[in-house]
Amino acid sequence: MPAKTPPGLVILTGAGISRESGLATFRDPDGAWAKHRIEDVATPEAFRRDPALVHAFYNARRAQLAEVAPNAAHLALAELERQWRGDFLLVTQNVDDLHNRAGSRNLVQMHGALRRARCLHCEAVHPWDAPLSTATPCPACAKAGGMRPDIVWFGEMPVEMGRIGMALETCGLFVSIGTSGNVYPAAGFVAEVADRAWTVELNLEPSLGHSRFEEARQGPATQLVPALVEELLSQWA
Ligand code: APR
Repeated sequence: MPAKTPPGLVILTGAGISRESGLATFRDPDGAWAKHRIEDVATPEAFRRDPALVHAFYNARRAQLAEVAPNAAHLALAELERQWRGDFLLVTQNVDDLHNRAGSRNLVQMHGALRRARCLHCEAVHPWDAPLSTATPCPACAKAGGMRPDIVWFGEMPVEMGRIGMALETCGLFVSIGTSGNVYPAAGFVAEVADRAWTVELNLEPSLGHSRFEEARQGPATQLVPALVEELLSQWA
């Protein structure tokens, strides 16, 4: 008997999956948006108005990455990818590098990456670990003043939407982990796949869009994700 073919799998993650590694989310009471206004630090207008403030916000978050490590949820998703025999795409809204460090490979960071910088003069993108400032010269064109975090700000287009769209079109299973469902287009993915995929939400509390999922489980990601991965692998691997 041929083994059952596993469904195409798309997993969407948000800040909640990195919370137990020690990174704050955005909309929880201790989250980034409780301390800063989005319009001050996370829009192209904010960067034009006060680049030093925007750099300080992202420099602090980039520096924090050296103090944290992937947790059991990141590691379980990397193991799931290694063992999954069907199509697999991990889409994260997170700009941290914890999925990368856990070993995930088919990964889209749809909101950009803290450890990359981009030059507004020549559009070159560079791996970046140091603090950025308005005096930082671009390693490619040598001009200063144009280096920005390679982050998708509010009002900008998320990256690799074509690749995400193709995976959503053919998936049979969609899992959303640790995201509050406030930010589109990610918050709309569950509705896009509803007619063809089994949809599951794993979150500390019901998200804004929890009722759109066939199944919603509440709890910390480090418990819920390894448990789901074990279930999926016992059913399909
Ligand atoms: N395990 C699972 N879920 C958790 C945990 C945890 N340990 N801790 C918190 N959560 C949940 C919260 O209950 C919340 O619903 O994670 C969610 C985080 O939501 P947000 O802070 O809104 O983060 P996210 O959904 O990723 O934000 C989307 O908003 O500001 C932008 O660009 C930013 O990518 C980000 C986007």
